[in-house]
Amino acid sequence: MQKPMHQWLTRALLVSALIAGAVPVLAQSGAEGKSPPAGYVAAADPKPGDSNAERAKSQPGNNAPLWRAVRESGNTPGISNLPGAEKGVLIQPLVQYPGVRLNNAGEAWRQVRNQWIIPYGGSLILIALLTLALFYWRRGPLGGHGVDTGRVIERFTPFERATHWTNAIAFVTLAVSGLVMSFGKFLLLPVLGGTLFGALTYALKTAHNFAGPLFAVSLLLMLITFVKDNLPSKQDLTWLMRFGGMFGGQEVASHRFNAGEKVVFWLGVLALGGLVVASGLVLDKLIPGLAYLRPDMQIAQMVHSAAAMVMLAMFAGHIYMGTIGMKGAYQAMRTGYVDEAWAKEHHELWFDDVKAGKIPAKRSQEPAPQAAPQA
Ligand code: HEM
Repeated sequence: MQKPMHQWLTRALLVSALIAGAVPVLAQSGAEGKSPPAGYVAAADPKPGDSNAERAKSQPGNNAPLWRAVRESGNTPGISNLPGAEKGVLIQPLVQYPGVRLNNAGEAWRQVRNQWIIPYGGSLILIALLTLALFYWRRGPLGGHGVDTGRVIERFTPFERATHWTNAIAFVTLAVSGLVMSFGKFLLLPVLGGTLFGALTYALKTAHNFAGPLFAVSLLLMLITFVKDNLPSKQDLTWLMRFGGMFGGQEVASHRFNAGEKVVFWLGVLALGGLVVASGLVLDKLIPGLAYLRPDMQIAQMVHSAAAMVMLAMFAGHIYMGTIGMKGAYQAMRTGYVDEAWAKEHHELWFDDVKAGKIPAKRSQEPAPQAAPQA
């Protein structure tokens, strides 16, 4: 009986496969016993710890050792001819920063900034501004209940005002430039276009670098100048518990500064100001003896921007109270003087001490204004 065609074909394929497999074996066995030509060095088999040069011989084109070294350069720095710290580190080691998963430090820092600091910091500032707008809309400016007497008390000496305004001008410069650096990409870039936005941001970034040290020095002067009258007193607790009397008629009596101002001083000026200044000086590379490696700069940047955004939200409240939020407050810081009626309404214990002669009504040599400054 005749076999079907496909069976013959299968057999033929099998036989040819067997012959093909046997040829190299025969060739090898034929080569056995023969020594390689003089000077011939056989390529070594690839090994896990190969250098890239070794692997290029054993498996030309396989650059796995190079990329493995790049990935591990955070733990075992590579060799680089460039002078300077960290030049042999292309990818930083793994770290666990708060709020994001374990990742190499560069990527982890990027995620902390983009997923936490920018969206939550921006929201905090917006919430603060909206709350102030809402408060102004419902309540308007506070104070102004007493009738001016025409008699004035010196509230801030020229030195105190100069210190305050240097600090405030530096702060506003830092705030505007910092906000453009953080949120300009979303808010200004689409409106201004790349060229104009680039030039503006470059100019503001340079202004930020120079205003920073000025802010640092003036902040230190502020702390020294105002610390004495910001020390806690027993009335502060009452003031805080009744929120200064803001929601119930009369203002709670306070000394020269009330508990709200003291919170701004200790939390805003000392704690947040201290964090922002210290991290800012690291970012400006002004602290001698620091290596300024990538992790130093990443940590400094996270501390700086997070603290700055909380500080901005807090000082939005301070600036509100110092300008449109309270009648007469801005005049006090601009001219240095307040009417006795203002002093009695807002800082009654301080006013009593001035009247009792315990605190001089005038501390500087500068001549007092003839009339009470306008609220
Ligand atoms: C444009 C910005 C600012 C304005 C309009 C402003 C306005 C004022 C005003 C009117 C006062 C007097 C309040 C009173 O008589 O009780 C004052 C006090 C004060 N300001 Fe400002 N300020 C500004 C920015 C700043 C900044 C940036 C800081 C600090 C980082 C600051 C820290 C202080 C301190 C420490 C006092 C004394 C009261 C206290 O110890 O809390 N101010 N400010």
